[in-house]
Amino acid sequence: MNGHIVLLPGDGIGPEVTTAACAVLHAVEARFGHTFHTAPHLIGGAALRATQVPLPDETLQAATAADAVFLGAVGDPAFDQAPPGKRPESALLAIRKALGLYANLRPARVWSGLEASGPLKPSVLAGTDLMVVRELTGGLYYGEPRGLAADGQSAHNTLRYSVDEITRIARVAFDLARRRRGRLVSVDKANVLEVSQLWRRTVQQLATEYPEVVLTHEYVDSAAMKLALAPSTIDVLLTENLFGDILSDEAGAVCGSLGLLPSASLGAKVGLFEPVHGSAPTIAGRDIANPIGAMASMAMLLEHSFGLASEAAAITQAIDDTLSAGLRTADIADPGTTPAATSQFTAAVTAALSRA
Ligand code: IPM
Ligand code: MG
Repeated sequence: MNGHIVLLPGDGIGPEVTTAACAVLHAVEARFGHTFHTAPHLIGGAALRATQVPLPDETLQAATAADAVFLGAVGDPAFDQAPPGKRPESALLAIRKALGLYANLRPARVWSGLEASGPLKPSVLAGTDLMVVRELTGGLYYGEPRGLAADGQSAHNTLRYSVDEITRIARVAFDLARRRRGRLVSVDKANVLEVSQLWRRTVQQLATEYPEVVLTHEYVDSAAMKLALAPSTIDVLLTENLFGDILSDEAGAVCGSLGLLPSASLGAKVGLFEPVHGSAPTIAGRDIANPIGAMASMAMLLEHSFGLASEAAAITQAIDDTLSAGLRTADIADPGTTPAATSQFTAAVTAALSRA
């Protein structure tokens, strides 16, 4: 297998976790006899500093031409006061839209040995293995009109979804549910929002094509509660852009740390893979970030963009082996124990990959 991967390390801990994910990629190349060409490009605050724009044309062109894109993180407090188009985050929204990445898959599960690392009782968390399917190129994030009134005294955003947008993301969720445990919960706010009423009706209509999937609907507030009270009862959770942003952070926290969660953004030709955690500027450059989300994102990249399911499973196994050996980064270490550095954890995962 020969492949071309564009790397967008970005900001904060993005470069460190990208280095970790690439180390894992190289171990996979060596073990399975593949060659991947990786090319780094600028995005976010890193791009703003170098070129004054958050998503340079050159980056978008490279991403469009690649087989897959790996992204570390974007976000830099130095640009907190900048206008919307000059903020690092706008690059992420722009590249998602430009690449047509409407389907965001965010799997969250308990890793072996981490049952007690999160805020929940291990008995509540046991067996948790869920998939958030988040619509990624519509909703409030992109709706027009939007803006701050000239006098600064009001602001507005627009929530709009079409039947087509709802149908295509719901199809992704139904297809996944069919291959998993056959349960799909669609999350909305249909007791208040017209958009949610359309969402619910559209999902219900599509359900007739998937008789083997058990579909339920949940209001977002109640879904947030269930995710904390009984996460193991959830199989696939389908929702719109903003609700998915919020619920996927909650899913990460429930499983022990946001640093554990990978994601895949799919839709058109090229997929983009990124850990769900952000740039975490307060811990950047200290070699303490959790690289698991990034490594697992690289596994999703190999599986979705190159069809390399065994290679992806080998990465997951190597992470599991490393956790079983007792290594923990600071975010998941038990109090009183010495945490492993990012680089140390990464070395252990690549060693486990090479040993096998
Ligand atoms: C995420 C992030 C982004 C989002 C930000 C950085 C724009 O929180 O990927 O979940 O809100 O989509
Ligand atoms: Mg988020």
